[in-house]
Amino acid sequence: MSADQPLYHIGFGRRDLGDPPPTVALLSGDPERARHIAERYLQDARKLSENRGLHSSVGRLPNGRPLLSATSGMGAPSLSIVVNELVQVGIRTIIRVGTCGSIQSHVRPGSVVISSAALCRQGAANDIAPVEYPAVADPFLTVALAQAARRLGVEHHVGITASVDTFYEGQERAASANPHLLRALRGITEEYRRLNILNYEMESGTLFKMGGVYGFRAACICGVIAQRTEGEQVVLEAKAVAVENAIRVALAVAEEVAGEEGI
Ligand code: URA
Repeated sequence: MSADQPLYHIGFGRRDLGDPPPTVALLSGDPERARHIAERYLQDARKLSENRGLHSSVGRLPNGRPLLSATSGMGAPSLSIVVNELVQVGIRTIIRVGTCGSIQSHVRPGSVVISSAALCRQGAANDIAPVEYPAVADPFLTVALAQAARRLGVEHHVGITASVDTFYEGQERAASANPHLLRALRGITEEYRRLNILNYEMESGTLFKMGGVYGFRAACICGVIAQRTEGEQVVLEAKAVAVENAIRVALAVAEEVAGEEGI
């Protein structure tokens, strides 16, 4: 299948991307976030598709460079499909813009976590590389995200993320329909906390391994929306600020990177 034609899951192909086409994408888990980025921050934003709820738009950054705002969906299997197809249509830099739960008391809701690497406990990643293969972010993008956060005055933390397959069991939530949390998962949050892991989310580990294997640049910035040292719930009051902080920082880096690539 030619990548010029619409690809099966993302619903658009290379030919739909315009000229010059974007090589940089911001990838949100939530389609509404992908739409919001395009509508609020991009010039001449144009919706590409909404296939399976996976919103994708293309538009221009303030410096005129093209940017794709796309949706991964929830979790690593969905992300792996979307990312594979984004690379087929020519995307070479992917910054995940997500949300996460902090497992350290100093990482507060409203701030952002920039993942330098992930402890990857994800089944999809095992179809891409051996379990021991490092799930590591592009170091240059990671530093650029930290510098942009500092410049923009966004409270940020750089470190290791636990990237897992489930929101409830894998993140040791007791308030769940599952009456039996596996013994292997009981106490895992405290163990990770002691290992200086900053947060839980559900996509970066597989994204990072794909970046290593496929040869594209991958990074991840997440707004903190839960404080797991205090409770299991999402702190809804912090969500808007956390997400907007993550988006603004990611956009600043997308602009630098698209410029560097001379597109
Ligand atoms: N996303 C997660 O995976 N966990 C949280 O606690 C919040 C967002």
